[in-house]
Amino acid sequence: MDKNFKRTLVTTALPYANGPVHIGHLAGVYVPADIYTRFLRLRGEDVIMIGGSDEHGVPITIRARKEGITPQDVVDRYHKIIKDSFEELGISFDVYSRTTSETHSETASEFFRHIYDKGGFVEKSSMQLYDEGAGRFVADRYVIGECPVCHSPGAYGDQCEKCGSSLTPTDLINPRCAETGNVPVLKETKHWYLPLENYQKALEEWILDGHKEWKTNVYGQCKSWLDLGLQPRAVTRDLDWGIPVPVEGADGKVLYVWFDAPIGYISNTKELLPDTWQKYWKDPESRIINFIGKDNIVFHCIIFPAMLMAYGDGYQLPDNVPSNEFLNLEGDKISTSRNWAVWLHEYLRDFPGKQDVLRYVLTANAPETKDNDFTWGDFQQRNNSELVAILGNFVNRAMVLTHKYFDGVLPEARPTEVETALTDEILSLKARITEALETFHFREALKLAMDMARAGNRYLQETEPWKVAKTDMTRTATILNTAIQICANLAIVFEPFLPFMSAKLLKMLGGDTITWDMLGCMDLVPAGAKLAQPELLFEKIEDSTIQGQLDRLTRIKEENKLAAWRPEPQQPDVPFDDFMKMDIRVGTVLECERVPKADKLLRFLIDDGMEKRTIVSGIAKYYKPEDLTGKQVCFVANFAPRKLKGIESQGMILSAQNPDGSLVVITPSAPVTPGSQVK
Ligand code: 2FM
Ligand code: ZN
Repeated sequence: MDKNFKRTLVTTALPYANGPVHIGHLAGVYVPADIYTRFLRLRGEDVIMIGGSDEHGVPITIRARKEGITPQDVVDRYHKIIKDSFEELGISFDVYSRTTSETHSETASEFFRHIYDKGGFVEKSSMQLYDEGAGRFVADRYVIGECPVCHSPGAYGDQCEKCGSSLTPTDLINPRCAETGNVPVLKETKHWYLPLENYQKALEEWILDGHKEWKTNVYGQCKSWLDLGLQPRAVTRDLDWGIPVPVEGADGKVLYVWFDAPIGYISNTKELLPDTWQKYWKDPESRIINFIGKDNIVFHCIIFPAMLMAYGDGYQLPDNVPSNEFLNLEGDKISTSRNWAVWLHEYLRDFPGKQDVLRYVLTANAPETKDNDFTWGDFQQRNNSELVAILGNFVNRAMVLTHKYFDGVLPEARPTEVETALTDEILSLKARITEALETFHFREALKLAMDMARAGNRYLQETEPWKVAKTDMTRTATILNTAIQICANLAIVFEPFLPFMSAKLLKMLGGDTITWDMLGCMDLVPAGAKLAQPELLFEKIEDSTIQGQLDRLTRIKEENKLAAWRPEPQQPDVPFDDFMKMDIRVGTVLECERVPKADKLLRFLIDDGMEKRTIVSGIAKYYKPEDLTGKQVCFVANFAPRKLKGIESQGMILSAQNPDGSLVVITPSAPVTPGSQVK
């Protein structure tokens, strides 16, 4: 790291408080930011980590209307869930605030007003969509209609998700307001725009020339935006939820959520350090690191920096914007609206005490360079074969053996070249882990930390203290002393990644303060120290637990399928004569039984008014034979006979199919003489 920096401000994207946080948020932003911050703290650096809930924006107002509560109720509910669950996962914010706080509202207002007073905005009137019935403007996203390109229904005003076309709402065929179903009209409205084009050159110099070291996904996205040429961007909206635009003639208008949210980083720093916050933002010896997800890149690398430039007054731009790609869940995109996610608060409920397992899996599988997939199978495997079998197993062996041979009192070591080589290996790992952490390669850093535990296991395997103890207690003492020193090193190296495990291990070793500098030392626990009783650091996760989670996801998939169900489009018209060719009749079920070796089939004997006929029907999943015996059914009498499981079926019983695939047999609403035709 560039040692010219005196202090670091780590910011984490502010999650929207219209839902809880899920594993995608964690893997993309909060776990890496926490690892980084904990690492800097261990190095004794001056660092603060800032977070908070993003509590404005249209989706919150829509959710509130849907639930019949106020937007404030919505954000109060989710802010609490988010804040508590972050805390329980050990995300070590120095402050976690919210954008409905008074400090934030004042800060964001002042920020706007300052740029406004400098003449930094352009005022423009334009025609926007308006819902006359509801008496409000409608954001592009909330207008739906037929896509003009692929003609699928349900395209959004800004994009068709079917064919991917970018749209404007006026392109849509038959546009409707998604919430009310009203036809939107165009209405003139005035807004304030930040003329981004004025900052084009400065941004190009700052990013394209000055920050070639940024991750390629971040740099590449910035470059394509800049190559397209920046346009003025509206920073206000017609909405009744948000921070009022602090100028005259702006009644009913609020700051655009993406204008106020990044200012939240400033307000939250102020809340934490009311007197000294400025040094983190304005001192050139400070640096700012924004941890974000890839959908936030343009806001953090182009728009917010342009806002800071417009404001002036010494505000520094971020030094780096480490942004991850997306995490999928079991092969599908995580989606809040489709409930396709592992929610943090639910994970904490279902896996008490297993915070570090989630932190480990999300880091080991972090979407650092490409989208990645979270699967419950991988979660179990990494827990059982890595945390339990490598890390937990090593620590447990070292502790148990020291208790067995030395009563838990750490014996003296007389290192030989074997121990020197091991120390060199640990020091070399330390150097590589440090570099990986400094450059935001957390996956790599974690893998190398695990290699330290692997080195410990290998050392015990090679030195075999349980055999040596039979003949040479001096050598046994050295081996176990060394093994315990490795345990202490593991407590340090894993602290940023697995802080709960680290604290527990440290307690077992009788240690308290740790620093990154101590990593690589082989005298961390003094000879003579009494070790606590060993406790298991990790436990196996059983198949049944994983199956429970997979069953939940299967249920959600089913629910989503049902919610997305629409009636089949109508078949082309059929002339009357064609319909009359179908001979549909009513019959009475005389007998009904299962067809052996055919799960789906029932065999019916039907009284069709003339004689008895056999029909085989695939409805055994939905009916027991006795449910239908004696009932009347409708059947196609002139359906060409066909053989099913060796039985000739002389017709087809009619059923209706529900969205979930279940079948319901059609019966007449009153008794009918068998053989009557259905017309
Ligand atoms: O994408 C999001 O979830 C936004 N709420 C992130 C805001 S980050 C910052 F600007 F506050
Ligand atoms: Zn389309």
